[in-house]
Amino acid sequence: MREYKFEAVMHVYELAELDDADRELVESAKRATAGSYAPYSKFRVGAAVRLKDGAIVVGANQENAAFPSGLCAERVALFAANAQCPDQPVTALAIAARKGSQFLSEPIPPCGACRQVISGVEDRFGQPIRILLYSTEGVFVSEGISPLFPLRFGSDNLCRVEN
Ligand code: THU
Repeated sequence: MREYKFEAVMHVYELAELDDADRELVESAKRATAGSYAPYSKFRVGAAVRLKDGAIVVGANQENAAFPSGLCAERVALFAANAQCPDQPVTALAIAARKGSQFLSEPIPPCGACRQVISGVEDRFGQPIRILLYSTEGVFVSEGISPLFPLRFGSDNLCRVEN
């Protein structure tokens, strides 16, 4: 038997400790919660994507009476960014969530499907995405999705099909 250990390291910053670009991205994610449509969960999530040229694209969760037809804030933002600017690598992603007017005191971790998509966008552009999870107690920062999503399935795992 062998043991295979995964290590997850995140750094927690006060909002004021972040540099201007990161703080702007987190503030954009917080503002983006206003675009959430969450009549079922009442859980309003905002996401903000930073592109290599500095542009910010935001998204918010969109729910539907047929629950699985809705989409998380992270994927709304990432897919919109990639659709509008297909040649611009994504460098960072900030996420914030609130119930009513109260932002959460714990960071909102991206769901499994969003982790898979974040991982796919890293693969697409060949670079890690800095992830910033906002909470009222601090901003949890991960350098890339890997610490949050070890042993992930990516394009490297796909077998080449020869025809
Ligand atoms: N949600 C997100 O937008 N992002 C996540 O990472 C987790 C969950 C949304 C989906 C749904 O609209 C609501 O939060 C409750 O699950």
